[in-house]
Amino acid sequence: MARKKHDEEPVRPLGAAEVYGRGRTLEDRDLDRALRPRTFDEYIGQKAVIDRVKIMVAAAKKRRDAMDHVLFFGPPGLGKTTLAHVIAHELGVGLRAASGPAIEHKGVLASHFVSIGERDVLFIDEIHRLPAVVEESLYPAMEDYRFDIAMGDTMNSIPVAPFTLVGATTRTGLLGAPLLDRFGQVLRLEFYGAHELAAIVRRSAGLLGVPIDDDAAHEIGRRSRGTPRWANRLLRRVRDYAEVEGNGRVTLKVAQGALAREGVDGDGLQDGDRALLRALVEKFDGGPVGVEALAAALAEERDTLEDYYEPYLIQEGYLARTPRGRAALRRAWEAVGRPMPAKAAAAAGASAGGGGGGQGELF
Ligand code: ADE
Repeated sequence: MARKKHDEEPVRPLGAAEVYGRGRTLEDRDLDRALRPRTFDEYIGQKAVIDRVKIMVAAAKKRRDAMDHVLFFGPPGLGKTTLAHVIAHELGVGLRAASGPAIEHKGVLASHFVSIGERDVLFIDEIHRLPAVVEESLYPAMEDYRFDIAMGDTMNSIPVAPFTLVGATTRTGLLGAPLLDRFGQVLRLEFYGAHELAAIVRRSAGLLGVPIDDDAAHEIGRRSRGTPRWANRLLRRVRDYAEVEGNGRVTLKVAQGALAREGVDGDGLQDGDRALLRALVEKFDGGPVGVEALAAALAEERDTLEDYYEPYLIQEGYLARTPRGRAALRRAWEAVGRPMPAKAAAAAGASAGGGGGGQGELF
């Protein structure tokens, strides 16, 4: 079904939100899958998270028990799904993938549980979008490996094989305490550094058989918005460019030309990022402005702003979340090519032009 829908999507330029998240194209999904690391050794970056997950995996294997449940959160494209697959692979168990909105009622969850294998991983993406009744039915499954379901007038408790729930969400703030408390670990994925992304680009280029210079890999990595999914997608676009207009080798010059053509600027911002900053500065005088008003001005959904665009712009010091709404920092004014008014600079205070508030504010 999902495939069909993607096949039928009309051809049009993609916005960042679509590449990162829900509306990802089939091509991107297949590419992600092909390039996905399968083992801890292949996985580049997220050292703090990997270290903790490694311990959980090793402990579970030693005990010959299902691994504790784990929740990954962070912006799209940072590897939450990949990590679920790595965990299953390292545990030597099967993985069932589901997503919050697709589990429309308890019956769907029940069908997963009746067929799940001993110690398997159940991966639920977008777990914050589970319907409330479904979420509640997860609690006894997570705690006691049983699933309560009504059959006629009576409530039956069916046993579930010991399993590991790997949940993924863009924001922990959207999950209630009862669910959060049932995860043994709640781990935040961070944006990747330029060196890590360059290493990912080199690895992916190797797998795709694309010859690439080191400085070109670094340039792609540096301009990938801290996100491996985006790095891999840009690599693919750059490869097309190298094949059509060059001799197939990705040099720095080829990479720079292709990135410019893709609308990725020298700082790695894309069309959607610039549109957001421009709206904030030009329509709302730099803010603060409520997220709803900003989303309306961009004809985007609020979720798209919060999940896809803002985390990186906040981390890079373009944007601040204040109690009164979104505010442009000095870097945003610079990106738009306008001088920051003294009043806005004073309001932004010491943080203006600073290194950014960090992702933490968002979650
Ligand atoms: N491809 C996508 N994400 C990756 C990662 N973290 N390490 C290696 N290859 C990747």
